[in-house]
Amino acid sequence: MRPDGIVIAIDGPAGVGKSTVGRLVAGRLGYSSISTGKMYRALAWKALENGISLEDDESLVKLAGSLKWGFPKGPGPEAGVSLDGRGLDLELSEERVSKASSGIAKLAGVRLFMCGMQRAAGISGGVVMEGRDIGTNVFPDAELKVYLDASPEARARRREGQLKEQGLEADYARILDFIIKRDAQDSGRKINPLKKAEDAHYLDSTALPCEKVVDAIVDLFKRSPAGRRSAV
Ligand code: C5P
Repeated sequence: MRPDGIVIAIDGPAGVGKSTVGRLVAGRLGYSSISTGKMYRALAWKALENGISLEDDESLVKLAGSLKWGFPKGPGPEAGVSLDGRGLDLELSEERVSKASSGIAKLAGVRLFMCGMQRAAGISGGVVMEGRDIGTNVFPDAELKVYLDASPEARARRREGQLKEQGLEADYARILDFIIKRDAQDSGRKINPLKKAEDAHYLDSTALPCEKVVDAIVDLFKRSPAGRRSAV
């Protein structure tokens, strides 16, 4: 048993709602939540700002190592990642950043750096960590694993709503095309591709509202040995 509770790994494709679900599950359990996608996005954003090539693995790792990474906690979307003390949120949703993050996530050095940071952040437990390879690679020994899925169309519709809510531009057809391409890139890459861990619970949220998905994961937690020990 880890000192602060278990590790809950939530993996799944782009736009499936992992960050929101992760944050809400963490809130219900008194756990912290970590969006590993935000880490790749933050590094991609910094590389774009500094004009560093998105294919230069060595320079990207050097850049990542030179930054002071913070993982601010809190219930809102501003919680997540800070670089050199600056909280990052809206800039990470930009399309150029999404595209760049998926590109740099293919690189071996970048992945090694990120996985090391993610393991260090979650090793004591009491954490909901979401991404693409948490249950398969970062925490293959996570006590509870969930693979969250939804149709590309449902995910595109949700992303469109989120962007509009943030006051950003949103075009459904473009988003759908982008999601399909990002799925192919994330599942097709050689290192740590997106895939369901054999022992992960599969949840299809195409027709499920967010609260039901959260309830389902909290239920899985309660039925797990760790959940039975803690009275949530
Ligand atoms: O989850 P999100 O869409 O914010 O992730 C941005 C990108 O970071 C993804 O498209 C994916 O390529 C990459 N990523 C990854 N491994 C993770 C989390 C995200 O490769 N654990």
